[in-house]
Amino acid sequence: TSVSQSRTQCYGLWSAVAAIKVDIPKDQYEFARGDNITLPCTFQSALSSPALAVVTWSDENVIITYYHPNGVTDIKPEYQGRVSVDANVNGGTGKADLKLSSITMADNKKYECQVQIPRDNVGKDADTAALTVLVAPSKPICKIEGTASYGQNISLICYSEEGSPPPTYKWNSYDAQNNPRVLPPKTTAKEGTLSLYNITKETSGFYICISENKIRSASCNLTVTVLPPTMMNIGSTAAIIGAAIVAVILLIVIIYCCCCRKKNDDKENYAMAPDYNDRRKDYDDRRSDYDDRRSDYNDRRKDYDDRRSDYDDRRSDYNDRRSDYDDRRSDYDDRRSKPGDRNERYDDERRYNDRRGPRSDDRDRP
Ligand SMILES: *[C@@H]1O[C@H](CO)[C@@H](O)[C@H](O)[C@H]1NC(C)=O
Ligand SMILES: *[C@@H]1O[C@H](CO)[C@@H](O)[C@H](O)[C@H]1NC(C)=O
Ligand SMILES: *[C@@H]1O[C@H](CO)[C@@H](O)[C@H](O)[C@H]1NC(C)=O
Repeated sequence: TSVSQSRTQCYGLWSAVAAIKVDIPKDQYEFARGDNITLPCTFQSALSSPALAVVTWSDENVIITYYHPNGVTDIKPEYQGRVSVDANVNGGTGKADLKLSSITMADNKKYECQVQIPRDNVGKDADTAALTVLVAPSKPICKIEGTASYGQNISLICYSEEGSPPPTYKWNSYDAQNNPRVLPPKTTAKEGTLSLYNITKETSGFYICISENKIRSASCNLTVTVLPPTMMNIGSTAAIIGAAIVAVILLIVIIYCCCCRKKNDDKENYAMAPDYNDRRKDYDDRRSDYDDRRSDYNDRRKDYDDRRSDYDDRRSDYNDRRSDYDDRRSDYDDRRSKPGDRNERYDDERRYNDRRGPRSDDRDRP
């Protein structure tokens, strides 16, 4: 062991000359927004197996501090939950990588990795690298500027609202049969704008714009239809007719609205005019009088209905009595039709007629 110890001391002595060396392999790292990333950091120490080490990752301020050997970390509050250090300090060379999850544009900055080892403080104990957060181009917005009619100049515009670094744009053209074709020689393409001069029927077709940056690309598909000026006129005539129809409808709506408005205004005017309010009150009074009289009438009418139902009852009584009488009369007729003492029957009949006489008078009375 004494041999190995002296060897270590010797090695240590040699390493002390070499001292600590911290290194981030590249100056710049590029990742897409939303990615979970690792920024690598390696180090060589004069001590083959340092008992203590402190790894610090920072931008302007310290983001995370990692303590070897117990593995404790201190994290800046706003990074809590999305940052960690992946460290391995045992051995002559170690690593102290930074892990950052779900990166945003705000993570677009310089980072420094520092490794401090007691009794190995001579040398390069830190290195820096820039993180570039890239954003894929958003689907470009494409449109035609100008009138697509024979002999005109038009511009095709293509623009991605997002993209970091800013995307470059490229236009490709296809004819109506979807065959690729070269753009006319006078065409100019600048940024996202493609200018077409003195256009003809042949200019019609599909125009594809590709918006592209380092990490991704997106495209749009624009259909260009070039019409002869007469067709444009037909188009504009149709537009004028359409506009006229819309105007008429609008006019009707406006008139209708004005009428409603006028009614409302009238109401407001009445509310403001005391004369009207008086007259209105009079009218309301008269109206309530009328309602009273009307309810009187309804009462009287109800009385009449009651009396009428009384009369109906009496009338049904009379009908009952009358049917009794008819029964008796039919009895009499039965007896009369039987052969027997005719005189007696005759007397009966006379008596009956005597009775009947006044009775029939009664009946004839209105
Ligand atoms: C990044 O890590 C988080 C957990 O920290 C996980 O939910 C997410 O899916 C990961 N994203 C990617 C792109 O790997
Ligand atoms: C436009 O093109 C037509 C033929 O397509 C040509 O006769 C005319 O001279 C051109 N005009 C211009 C201004 O280039
Ligand atoms: C562009 O759109 C047209 C019709 O909308 C389609 O026929 C054509 O294939 C499209 N081109 C590309 C490259 O997507």
